[in-house]
Amino acid sequence: MPALITSQTAMPPSISLQHLRQRTERLMRLCGCAENELSILLVDDPGMAQLNEQYRNKKGPTNVLAFAMLEGEGIPPVADLLGDVIISLDTASREALADGVTLHQRVTILLIHGLLHLLGLDHERSRAEAKAMADREKQLLHQLLTEERRGKMVSLAINVDHVATLRQARGISEPDPVLAAGICELAGAQGIVVHLREDRRHIQDRDVQLLRQTVKTKLNLEMGATEEIIGIALEIKPDMITLVPEKRKELTTEGGLNVAGQKKKLQGVIARMRTAKIPVSLFIDPDSRQINAAHEVGATFVEIHTGRYCDAATEAMRDKEFGLIATAAEEAYEMGLRVNAGHGLNYLNTRRVAALGTIEELSIGHAVMARAILVGLDQAVREMLALLPAG
Ligand code: PXP
Repeated sequence: MPALITSQTAMPPSISLQHLRQRTERLMRLCGCAENELSILLVDDPGMAQLNEQYRNKKGPTNVLAFAMLEGEGIPPVADLLGDVIISLDTASREALADGVTLHQRVTILLIHGLLHLLGLDHERSRAEAKAMADREKQLLHQLLTEERRGKMVSLAINVDHVATLRQARGISEPDPVLAAGICELAGAQGIVVHLREDRRHIQDRDVQLLRQTVKTKLNLEMGATEEIIGIALEIKPDMITLVPEKRKELTTEGGLNVAGQKKKLQGVIARMRTAKIPVSLFIDPDSRQINAAHEVGATFVEIHTGRYCDAATEAMRDKEFGLIATAAEEAYEMGLRVNAGHGLNYLNTRRVAALGTIEELSIGHAVMARAILVGLDQAVREMLALLPAG
């Protein structure tokens, strides 16, 4: 394995070892040393202080230390060890906070710094070399993030609840959300979403059962975490579920889940879904606390609530809300969570969210159905797909 990562300290929930390993290997490729091996050690401040004293005769911890196998001789032969990069997660956490970046990003920057040392660059030799090293660090970080996010297609999952709302208004069998889902898929939608509410105001049990048999892309069952609906999900086995808060009196889902306030309960639901191999997404507001909690309880996805961005009354408020979504998506992505987004997205505000590069799937219902009444469902879906960045 080209990158061997060992941790001698408790891993903060915001660090994903798998993501860090993928990043290291990508970085090694960008630096032309993909065929070598690299050892990374994550330590705490006391551990780092000990190493700093032992090898550099310096008191106290530092953020990163690098020990090359071949001091100053560049890249060793293929398959040989480049050396060790040691990172203090305590110091990295403080620096992340001060710089306003995620811990994952700060660790990535320290990793790049250490790797460049192993490849022979040294900022302590001269000012010119310090500048060259800082420039190369920036360039590598940019290359890494662009490469990671490039070619990521954003998929479109269509919520067909409103088709059922129309049907229920007459209490007959038309229009059928199952047929509508097929039309959405034929138009290119990559997923179908339905919300089986406790009060069955639109989607019915029969719809979910039939959709399980007919959906060819991916069926995402939106649901409240109640025993009855959990039982249905475990029996029907959708491709994934999205847990949302549900209130009987609301017109539509009003806010994100308070994951931080019900960790134990959600952990239990996620564990039950895991045994049935059903990935769980948690619908949350763009808020660090909720993202950390979603990661802690073992969610596979988060769906970031875009409602406040979509409903913003002024341009300035819209920009502010968009900033929150962008930061939250980045944070969740950097933790290794898969990131979806939705609520209130329409033909005017979707492109900006879809272009973020950290979002995997958008869940859109109302805007597409409203347009479908005027131009047809097939065209409404295709027009929405045309707004998403192609892979
Ligand atoms: N995501 C979630 C969690 C939702 O509850 C809804 C509304 O059902 C949507 C996305 C879609 O929202 P809209 O209908 O406004 O596109």
